[in-house]
Amino acid sequence: MASVLGRPSPLRLGLVARRTTTTTNTIAATASGSRVLSPFLPSSTHNCYPRRYKSGPYGYTLAKTLVFSRFGEPKDVLSLHTHSISPTLPDGAVLLRALAAPVNPADVNTIQGTYGAKPSFSPLLGTPEPAAVPGNEGCFEVVSVGAQTPGLARGDWVIPATSGFGTFRTHALVEDAARQLIRIGGEKGTEGLSAKQVATVSVNPCSAYRMLKDYVDLVDLSVKSFARGGDGATGGAWFLQNGANSGVGRSAIQLGRLWGLRSINVIRERATPEETEALKKELQELGATVVVTEDEFLDRSFSARLKEEWTRGGREPVLLGLNCVGGKSASAMVKALSPGGCMVTYGGMSRQSFPFPTGPQIFKRLRFEGFWLSEWAKEHPTEKRNTINEILEHMRNGRFKEAPFQEVEWGWDTEEKVLKDAVQGTLEGFRSGKGIFVFGDT
Ligand SMILES: NC(=O)c1ccc[n+]([C@@H]2O[C@H](COP(=O)([O-])OP(=O)(O)OC[C@H]3O[C@@H](n4cnc5c(N)ncnc54)[C@H](OP(=O)(O)O)[C@@H]3O)[C@@H](O)[C@H]2O)c1
Repeated sequence: MASVLGRPSPLRLGLVARRTTTTTNTIAATASGSRVLSPFLPSSTHNCYPRRYKSGPYGYTLAKTLVFSRFGEPKDVLSLHTHSISPTLPDGAVLLRALAAPVNPADVNTIQGTYGAKPSFSPLLGTPEPAAVPGNEGCFEVVSVGAQTPGLARGDWVIPATSGFGTFRTHALVEDAARQLIRIGGEKGTEGLSAKQVATVSVNPCSAYRMLKDYVDLVDLSVKSFARGGDGATGGAWFLQNGANSGVGRSAIQLGRLWGLRSINVIRERATPEETEALKKELQELGATVVVTEDEFLDRSFSARLKEEWTRGGREPVLLGLNCVGGKSASAMVKALSPGGCMVTYGGMSRQSFPFPTGPQIFKRLRFEGFWLSEWAKEHPTEKRNTINEILEHMRNGRFKEAPFQEVEWGWDTEEKVLKDAVQGTLEGFRSGKGIFVFGDT
């Protein structure tokens, strides 16, 4: 979480708690809130501005944030909390305004308490109980800059440098901004980029990029295969993935295309054959070589099809499998991978585990790896920034398309339920796009 919930006292950070407004936008200070408020505001202040937007008296910024104080389903544990931020920023700090923030499956798992990283619950936002702000990804605009904050200026767009920032909020006061934020765009700034592209670049595209590059050198394999020439190579090296229509899957397809790789992509059937065909076509247009449904993938005939239809009798190996589903789909992936291949598990959307079968580990010498972007990024902070910049450049040039979105507008008057439903719906499957908060008049 951003240092807004970190070590310093709320007074030092200028954070002032107010009661959450859920169904009206009338704002009133709570008893605990007014205790925190007293050094800053006259006690009657809250009566003076029943409807305020963005800016309070003395330049205070009014902010809203989703918070949770215990683990559980988002609809049960999230609430919308209102607080104020002082115009006086500590040295090295910046005040940010949110532009867009996607809701990723990991955000929901974090709220449920099933994710690998647990947030710390802090009292600093003045919530009735210590709370955490959900959300890992987002694009923010710098609103004001404290003294001694090099490299950032008002109007810059930034994204969190690390996970656990807490992005489901209208504003954030970030200490140690140079370490906690990545400024977008270098000399080119934000030219040619949308806030939604920037908000969604750091998790899914980055994960796809690293998984395609860091486990099997597919680009080198492709080059060698072409160099051998004579054996009739017809394209780059193959990789196989399930959950292919996910944000990560779409990113892998597009990066694979840019790097000359070929992909076999598994999707779940849609409600009608026409919809399934439309999704297959959509992924093919992104650069997928082959798209099959999960039923086709699990069918006995798949091995023969893989050999005869796509890999020239098995002479072109499939050495990398990307698994975000688990269960039967993961077991089918084990069967489909060629000897010496590597299966990288990075998600478990079906919530089913799968056996690590003994035979394929010995006789096919398969490798099983797990990928977690957060840990990779801790160890490779510079590489993460470089990866993001490379993908943003592809986006800028129209070579990389972001995943489809279901936009949820978050304005000052947006009701708590609308925001909670958007988070809750994330793991429900068969969605037409990823939920993304797009911030309006806040
Ligand atoms: N390890 C890491 O560092 C890392 C980084 C990024 C993402 N991830 C993981 O990658 C996965 C995809 O994330 P995302 O943000 O790209 O997802 P997303 O865009 O929200 O898409 C969700 C995907 O999961 C599929 N899905 C949902 N429920 C399913 C079920 N019960 N069985 C099979 N498939 C199901 C969806 O297929 P339908 O359209 O058919 O519902 C869709 O393909 C998640 O598990 C996420 O946690 C991990």
